[in-house]
Order: sequence, then C-alpha cells, then structure tokens
Amino acid sequence: MSTAVVGSANLDLVYRVDRIPSPGETVLATSFTAVPGGKGNNQAVAAARAGSDVTFVVALGRDTAGDRLAEEAREAGVRVLDRRVDAPTGSAVITVDAAGENSIVVDSGANASLISLTEGEREAVAAADVLLLQLETPLDTVLAAAVAAHAAGTLVVLNAAPVRDLPAALLEHVDLLIVNEHEAGLLAPAASSAEAAAAELASAGRSVVLTLGGSGSLVLAAGGSPVLVPAHRVEVVDTTGAGDTFCGALAAELDRSGVVRRGAAERPGPDLTAALVAAARFASAAAALSVQRPGAVPSIPTLEEIRAFVADRR
Ligand code: RIB
Repeated sequence: MSTAVVGSANLDLVYRVDRIPSPGETVLATSFTAVPGGKGNNQAVAAARAGSDVTFVVALGRDTAGDRLAEEAREAGVRVLDRRVDAPTGSAVITVDAAGENSIVVDSGANASLISLTEGEREAVAAADVLLLQLETPLDTVLAAAVAAHAAGTLVVLNAAPVRDLPAALLEHVDLLIVNEHEAGLLAPAASSAEAAAAELASAGRSVVLTLGGSGSLVLAAGGSPVLVPAHRVEVVDTTGAGDTFCGALAAELDRSGVVRRGAAERPGPDLTAALVAAARFASAAAALSVQRPGAVPSIPTLEEIRAFVADRR
C-alpha cells in the first residue's frame, strides 16, 4: 500500500484577523504563527497520517524553512525525496478570519524549480500504487509524473488546485480528478452547473470527485451514477488545508481498498463506485477534523482520530 506525491511545500505565515482586509486596507492581526503547508506537503502528510506508505518528491531551498518542512514531514512518516535548490523555500501568506475562512498568497520559490523528474524520482512514482498530484508545481513535471505512473499501472489522482488550463495530454493520464465547484466550472466552461461540469470531466472513462464545501462531495465513478456524500457539521476554526486533507485521506483509503489498484479504476462497475464513495466518506471525516484545528499540517488528523470520529458519528 503506497502513495507517491509530487508537489509543493510552503512555510505558511498565518495571520489570524477579525476580517480579511479589503484592497488598500490595513488590519491588525490577533495572532501570528509559521507552520508547514503547501498543497503537496499537506496531501503527503494527510495520506501518511491516514495510514499510507508515502513518498514525497519536492524541491526545497537550502534554508531553515526547507530543513523544517522536510523534518516535520518525516516526523509524520513521509519518505521525503527532497532536492535542495538555490531558491528560497516556498512560502504562503495566509489570513484567517473569525469564521475560519482564509485568503492565501503563495510565493512558489523553490517549488518552481521542480521542472523535471530524475530517474530515481520517476522510479518512485512508478513503484507506487497511487500517485497524488496538484498544480502548485510546474505543469511539465505534473505531466511527466502522470505519464510515468500511468505507464506503470499506478492510479493517477489529480487535485486541480490551484486551477489552470489543463492540456488534454495530461487529462488523458488522470484516473481520478478531484475538483471544487470553482475549479470544475473553469475546466468545463460550457457546462451549465458545477455538477454538469463534473459529469463532462468524468465522461472519458475518468472518475471525478466534486467537493462542495459544507454540502459534502459528489462522487462520479467512471461508468457509475453520481452519489452525494454529505459533509459532517462541525465547529469551523480554520479551513486552511482541509481540501488537501480530503485529497490525502481519500488517496490513502482508496489505496487501502485495493479495488482501484493498478489501473482497475478504468474498469467501470459497482466496485469502483462503492470504493470511491467509501473513500470520500473517510476523507470527509478527515476534513471535518482538520477544520476544527488551526493551521495546515498541524490540523491533519491521524488514522486513529479519523476512525474514532467515524465511530462516534454512527
Ligand atoms: O491548500 C492550502 C495550502 O495552499 C496552504 O498550506 C498554502 O501553503 C497553499 O499552498
């Protein structure tokens, strides 16, 4: 059971504010912390804490932030294949308001240097059962990882965030696409709704999970009928990293199910729908735990916490 993640890592500079400032406005923060984040890093830690054996390919600067991100990911159980480059480690300025909503500005820094894969990194991707990708690193590398994984029969999962135009050459190697409503609308602009966009994106034998925030997620398994998985109602402290927690936990649970291993995601049928729905339920519990705690990586729950939460909600 193994997951490879190719993606970004950032040091998140988090400012709690009563409300997020408007353009031209200055507000005083009520607190400040610097914590590990970045979509790739968050998803790698989420998959590891959810029980998967995770390898993370990432570019970090030769600086204290890079040391800290690598060390804390390793403490979470992630095997970090970090290349150190002559650029500052990625960072993000995050404001979180009283309702737990955020705004984020990312400086890619070292993440922009992940422009190709070494032979060893390609082998790590091909050896995994699941590959988890996001769009915070250069598209060429995302594509190279997807191609290597697909050729090896590794299940390719793409979280299309932050959203950008995706070449058909990338999408054809993706077995499962995870998008929110905004991302679905941008990837399928002619569709009349997010649900219609998700159906369009799923139509080529690819599965889609459309995340709907507080309304849950819509699972469209390749060849199956859509299934709505409701979200848990919880007290929201900070939504930062909740989407990444969802993706990492979903990948780990799918991997554990075995149903979609080694290219079987292309096989339509009830097994795939059932496995994806079960994974989305598990991921929804993980995300519900993460929004109740501050920060990205610090908020990500362990397998025991997720299972206890699920048992409690029965
Ligand atoms: O998805 C949340 C993440 O987005 C943050 O951790 C921040 O680093 C940005 O990458």
